[in-house]
Amino acid sequence: MIKIAPSMLSADFAEMGRDLKRVEEWGADWIHLDVMDGSFVSAITFGAAMCAAFRRRTALPLDVHIMVEHPATHIEAFRAAGADYLTIHGEADRHLHRTLQMIRQSGMKAGVAINPATHPSAIEYVLGMCDLVLVMSVNPGAGGQSFIPEVVPKIEYLANKKRDQGYTYEIEVDGGINEDTAPIVIAAGATALVSGSGVFGAANPARAISRMRG
Ligand code: DX5
Ligand code: ZN
Repeated sequence: MIKIAPSMLSADFAEMGRDLKRVEEWGADWIHLDVMDGSFVSAITFGAAMCAAFRRRTALPLDVHIMVEHPATHIEAFRAAGADYLTIHGEADRHLHRTLQMIRQSGMKAGVAINPATHPSAIEYVLGMCDLVLVMSVNPGAGGQSFIPEVVPKIEYLANKKRDQGYTYEIEVDGGINEDTAPIVIAAGATALVSGSGVFGAANPARAISRMRG
């Protein structure tokens, strides 16, 4: 079944506990946390302390997407904070292979994200060590942007690699996902969908989640 991971970036930051309970009631499968450092992307959101606070309030998997430079330096903090998936940007790390090894050794599931301009062949040699590959369908840094359709062939590429090589990673798509774009990325091979404004901005968020799942 397709997993839906609402992004708490679209929640009310002064009401995170309330909005966490709401997304659980709406039927979320995972909780997506967008960590931004003001350098890899210009915005700053929150870090491992917020992740730990979510961990105390939910049993759902915490799907942590860190848009930060030097991601390896944050592994231990997110492990201690109870993250389940830790997804780093391939563009942010010169030593991606080693960092993914470190994430797995720490006991978390390892993910790699690629920006819209990055070809998936850039991460070809680490696909076998990924539990999740995140295809950004907007440029990272903000919620509420429009889906970039040019990324769809990248989802197909990753789905073909997964099938041909027997890999097991989730193919997650993040950015501009709503009831209209979800079927497009699911048809291409996505197995997990992040949605911020598509959930929090919906008239009926529970229905939106169930329709996105297909
Ligand atoms: C963007 C973040 C996304 C964002 C998605 O940098 O990685 O997770 O919250 O928001 P929507 O679904 O509104 O595009
Ligand atoms: Zn994200």
